[in-house]
Amino acid sequence: MSDSHRSAFGEHGGESSGFIERTFRERIVLAGVTLPPSTEEDTEAGLDELEALVDTAGADVVDRVVQRRQTPDPATYIGSGKAGELRDAAEAADCDTVVFDDELSPAQQRNLEKILGRTAIDRTAVILDIFGQNASSQEGKAQVELAQLRYQLPRLRRGSKASLSQQRGGGAARFGGGETRLEVDRRRIVRRIHKLEAELRDVAAHRETQRKRAKRSRAANVAIVGYTNAGKSTLLNQLTDSGVLVEDRLFATLDATTRRLQLPGGEAVLLTDTVGFVRKLPHQLVEAFRSTLQVAADADLLVHVVDASAADPVAQMGAVRDVLVEIGAADVPELLCFNKADLASEAKRLVDRNPGSVSISARTGEGITDLLTAIGDRLRAQTDLMELYVPYARGDVLAEVHREGEVLSETAGPDGVVIRARLDPAGAARLGRWSTATEQQ
Ligand code: GTP
Repeated sequence: MSDSHRSAFGEHGGESSGFIERTFRERIVLAGVTLPPSTEEDTEAGLDELEALVDTAGADVVDRVVQRRQTPDPATYIGSGKAGELRDAAEAADCDTVVFDDELSPAQQRNLEKILGRTAIDRTAVILDIFGQNASSQEGKAQVELAQLRYQLPRLRRGSKASLSQQRGGGAARFGGGETRLEVDRRRIVRRIHKLEAELRDVAAHRETQRKRAKRSRAANVAIVGYTNAGKSTLLNQLTDSGVLVEDRLFATLDATTRRLQLPGGEAVLLTDTVGFVRKLPHQLVEAFRSTLQVAADADLLVHVVDASAADPVAQMGAVRDVLVEIGAADVPELLCFNKADLASEAKRLVDRNPGSVSISARTGEGITDLLTAIGDRLRAQTDLMELYVPYARGDVLAEVHREGEVLSETAGPDGVVIRARLDPAGAARLGRWSTATEQQ
């Protein structure tokens, strides 16, 4: 019964598999539940976003069903009466799959598929599916596959999904050694998970070496973060002409891309794009992408790009900040950058309400110079401008100043050199004893 699992559960051989059918455009019904303290508008906003995600995954939303409850039903998430209603709506709409806006437990998913007579998946599966389609580097692919397998493992069961292809499968066929197909599948997945984990550990170690090297190169690290579709790639293109993939699809960016950027003040910074964030980003994904997201935690400055034309930019900012907390980047200074100013008059109002922020259009280039200036100003604000006096005899200290800081001027005196340099707080503390005066800028 090798075809008894749908694509999501069928192959574990390396290619990450999808949760949504690709051979035709699936018809999808969305289901959402309003739990206190959320309002019905919150649920609708969540479903709007889920609809965009489903569309990105390549399927069509044909209906929505919502319910208000005090708590989720432990067995079926929505109430069992509502589940019957949902089945009728699914029948009427001739839909293939029902997508729930919240993560379903494996038991809830199983029960729902029985009641609905069709596949039930959740928001997490859709996001994993999109990531699976968009991963391009070897690391990105491995990270997504790992997240998908971790999601699948507890959900793996005989005739996993109530899709047509599975109903053809028969009983518990026995394999050599008396194992059921399910046991074989489970062991294969666990083995593959271990292999991917080991692979990703190696990549992370390599990245750490690169990171240390980059640190020594003195250039400040700036990471672009933002909600999915905020315009991060477009901005990076506009800034660096780097040719990073830009598509009007969610999650076009999966792999961190670093470019060198020259600021108006002359200094160079390393600019890295990160994966798009989203509300309820599956924790399996945050886990799997931890090393990629690490660039944000290690950055000297985050440029947080916000789509000013979005229905609720402030909610998206909150969602991004939640993820930043989760990956340990909460303390990295943030420069808010309200994008799509060409579409949204709202951008200017958002800037007024967020002192120190800038408004831009990554598409037209409006405001880009202001953004660059702001990046330079913010980075400079994090360094100390120091004047040091270093005797000629201390060549080691001279070398250290050049290595650690940005030297602005050197004036030779009879016994030593007066150096004006910008140093980060750690460098300033180390070299403080050579200071003639320290002025905070
Ligand atoms: P993810 O990869 O999902 O994280 O997206 P992203 O943040 O990298 O967004 P991307 O740059 O791919 O832009 C998303 C869509 O918004 C594309 O269709 C862009 O053309 C459009 N877009 C980006 N910036 C602007 C802008 O300043 N104005 C307008 N009108 N559209 C923009």
